[in-house]
Amino acid sequence: MVWKLIMSKDGRTYTYNTDEIKKDFHTDFGVITKKDMINAKFGRKIKTHKGVEFSVIEPTIKDLLARFKRGPQIVTFKDSAIIAAYTGLKPGMKVVDGGAGSGVLASFLGNLVSPNGKVITYEIREDFSKIAKHNVKIAGLERIVKVKNKDMSKGIDEKNVDLVTVDVKSPWEIVEPAKKALKVGGFLVAYIPTVLQVDDFVREVNKHKELKYLRTIEIIERGWKIEERVLRPMSQMLAHTGFLIFVRKL
Ligand SMILES: C[S@@+](CC[C@H](N)C(=O)[O-])C[C@H]1O[C@@H](n2cnc3c(N)ncnc32)[C@H](O)[C@@H]1O
Repeated sequence: MVWKLIMSKDGRTYTYNTDEIKKDFHTDFGVITKKDMINAKFGRKIKTHKGVEFSVIEPTIKDLLARFKRGPQIVTFKDSAIIAAYTGLKPGMKVVDGGAGSGVLASFLGNLVSPNGKVITYEIREDFSKIAKHNVKIAGLERIVKVKNKDMSKGIDEKNVDLVTVDVKSPWEIVEPAKKALKVGGFLVAYIPTVLQVDDFVREVNKHKELKYLRTIEIIERGWKIEERVLRPMSQMLAHTGFLIFVRKL
């Protein structure tokens, strides 16, 4: 199975895997033959019967998100990108994540620590573990991201971890296990939707002399409309999703 993305000049995109193409493919601009869809080479172009061209692109993790199964609320890329930037995430690093939920943050991190790093993501619910596993497979990261059907608050099996990310209802319960799992200099980052939870989490962090609370931030993304001479900010923003709380092991 190979994932491919085709995109036309007007931005119409279709993400598909070669196994699911059983017949000719109907787009808004005409039909592409099954053979062309399957044999499409990255970097080349294929055409519909009306002559409309589509570029053949190797999908990124962001493109594949459109094909993920829906599960619990995900961490958006505007937030996960900042987690990666502020913690210096790089290939080879060992990450523990939880709860896995839809496996979106775990897949994002797995993509960055590839090809020799690891992400172990904990999920307390079996049904969500299955969704996370399914999505990790779509992302092609089964070798990198391991989903564990376990309660993270009861302990983290891994040691010498570079980064622990937490997106659970009671993040303060993960502080002690994260402290034990992290290497000195490693980061604990919590993604927390409401400010009262942030307060409880930071109070718990501050009880531990081996943990240094660093900062709490919120990322707001505003798109701009750039069309002809109409250049203005969009009225809707990707505003509050969650707070990001950064902590470092001493
Ligand atoms: C909002 S979702 C996580 C979404 C995920 N970060 C993503 O981007 O797809 C929160 C998940 O944490 C799980 N969870 C809650 N407490 C947990 C715990 N103590 N250990 C493991 N998973 C837990 C829930 O079952 C739920 O699936």
